[in-house]
Amino acid sequence: MEKRPYYITTPIYYPSDNLHIGHSYCTVATDAMARYKRLRGYDVMFLTGTDEHGQKIEDKAKEAGCTPKEFVDKIVEGPRGVKALWKLMNISNDRFIRTTDDYHVASIQKIFKKMYDNGDIYKSVYKGKYCKPCESFWTESQLVDGKCPDCGREVTDAEEEAYFFRASKYADRIRDLLLNTDFLEPRSRVNEMINNFIDCEGGLQDLCVSRTSFTWGVPVDFDPKHVVYVWLDALFNYVTALGYCNDKYDDLEKFWPGVNIVGKEIVRFHSIYWPAFLMSVGLPLPQKVYGHGWLLLDGGKISKSKLAENKVVNVVDPYLLSERYGVDALRFFLLRTFPFGSDGNFSNELLLQTINTDLANDLGNLVSRTVAMVQKYFGGMLPEAQEADEAQDAELIELASGLRDRYETEVEKFQFQNGIAEVFRVISRANKYIDETAPWILAKDEAKKPRLARVMYNLLETIRICGALLRPVMPDTADRIMERLGGAPSEWESLGSFGVLSQTVTVTAGEALFPRIDIQKELAALAEITSAPEEAPEPEEATVTFKPEIAFDDFEKVDMTVVKVLECENVKKSKKLLRFTLDDGSGTPRQILSGIAQYYKPEDLLGKTLVACTNLAPRKMMGLDSCGMLLSAEKGESLTLLILDDAIPAGAKLC
Ligand code: ME8
Repeated sequence: MEKRPYYITTPIYYPSDNLHIGHSYCTVATDAMARYKRLRGYDVMFLTGTDEHGQKIEDKAKEAGCTPKEFVDKIVEGPRGVKALWKLMNISNDRFIRTTDDYHVASIQKIFKKMYDNGDIYKSVYKGKYCKPCESFWTESQLVDGKCPDCGREVTDAEEEAYFFRASKYADRIRDLLLNTDFLEPRSRVNEMINNFIDCEGGLQDLCVSRTSFTWGVPVDFDPKHVVYVWLDALFNYVTALGYCNDKYDDLEKFWPGVNIVGKEIVRFHSIYWPAFLMSVGLPLPQKVYGHGWLLLDGGKISKSKLAENKVVNVVDPYLLSERYGVDALRFFLLRTFPFGSDGNFSNELLLQTINTDLANDLGNLVSRTVAMVQKYFGGMLPEAQEADEAQDAELIELASGLRDRYETEVEKFQFQNGIAEVFRVISRANKYIDETAPWILAKDEAKKPRLARVMYNLLETIRICGALLRPVMPDTADRIMERLGGAPSEWESLGSFGVLSQTVTVTAGEALFPRIDIQKELAALAEITSAPEEAPEPEEATVTFKPEIAFDDFEKVDMTVVKVLECENVKKSKKLLRFTLDDGSGTPRQILSGIAQYYKPEDLLGKTLVACTNLAPRKMMGLDSCGMLLSAEKGESLTLLILDDAIPAGAKLC
């Protein structure tokens, strides 16, 4: 019978820096799903890759003094690069796409032309805000506190001739898709998408899909001063890698539509623009987009830019962690610990505890104790004569027999954590069964040997089912377990019932699957490795940058006024904003919102004399008008308001 096809993808990561544990998390989860589907008998296509164009990469290459292609080649193909990382982590991707691959570039040009020809892409002028790290355009109303709503960083004004995609035309179909199908999961992300991007003020905006201010991208072949916007280029990877608009591959029909696994910050692109693009070119929509949660470190998202700022060997380097604790232990930790749809706090301590508790104690001990007992009491091979004891065996057998189905229910929903928890419930039950049956006492009485043999059999059979179901998460460990059980069957069909293992199974001993770790010692060793290098820190001045020169006339345009704080309070539902009512000397109180709540308590600012830029165009934040901006001095993490001598009257001008 022909196998059913199943197609699953990770995001294609930016090779702007080395990848970290967050990328490994997504890739390991996708790999576990791909392996699970293979276990289920599907013909799986698993795609990952790298998203290599865009201004960020161009800038990074400039900094590094090389061409963008040289820069990305090193990060993707280098000795500790992306491909080597996935090999190390036992990722079973069938294909790896780089958006600089010739076939992809040529496909994107054709796709762009197709969308232009069908009227969905048109030329106009782009005016708005651009976030370079996210390669995202935003309208003023989408900004949060004037900053990028995705990453919270500064945005810059952008105005240029550009091509636009008529996303607005697809708003109704996308709303319907999000609301009335299971296209986007977890479902909790649906409302956010609809409220913020479709049913927001002004509705779904057309998307700017070309740039002229840099060149590192796919050139629009009929208007070569434009390069294709990196997100259009990137999203189509999921189908160009199957042969859409190229001859390199020929399995689009077989595998598309597939499942796109992405982090929650790029759900917007995948659940709104991606389906709209597909509608435009007439391809079927993805079966599903799953937006997983973030790994956090000290409460904040682990990100390449934050790690780069740190300049120390980082504690979340997947190379370092895989090499120290083993790939399977790391893979297991990631999927066992964090619910896939939500955020989770990463810590080295938690990683080590999980290895000790689940892997060394519960699983490792069960396997080594059982194998050792079979060797000790039966010379490694169980006899045929075995005696069941309904009362003692029933619970373990029932739990182990139903495990496959309970596991399936969870993993099908991407609830890896729950699927693994089901397996560990059975492992704990088996450990308890050893205590209840006390094999060492049975072994003392020759007449109890058949009973002892049955106890051992029940344990081995339980280990077989658990070990095989852990294979998608820990492929090597599953192999090692099956080897100990004399090459026990581990295909899916054999896991749904108890008693498949040969009754006269022969076991082989081996090293401990997971050695216990001395957590305190290991944490100290890690701290040593990851602490800052000896060399002198760079002088602070080196980080100060200056804006380009401006004319005196331009400077004169800025109206700086001394103001006194009449009222100050936190803005509801905002962690950052304070609302000030100020005396600016005009007789009419002025309202200004300022994103400094993490630095100041409102009550400490009452009556203070501050400086405000008073001719800045008013803007709305959290539904409130802000008429001007309070001046403060910022360096690194610190921010201090300019607080003046109270003797200076409100309304005085800075000059
Ligand atoms: O966004 N926790 O690439 P990217 C969990 N090129 N997952 C994390 C994570 C964290 N702290 N940090 C990153 C891009 N990830 C685009 C994608 S797709 C057509 C283009 C994972 O290098 C997560 O899956 O910034 C996230 O969506 C992805 O890495 C972003 O990787």
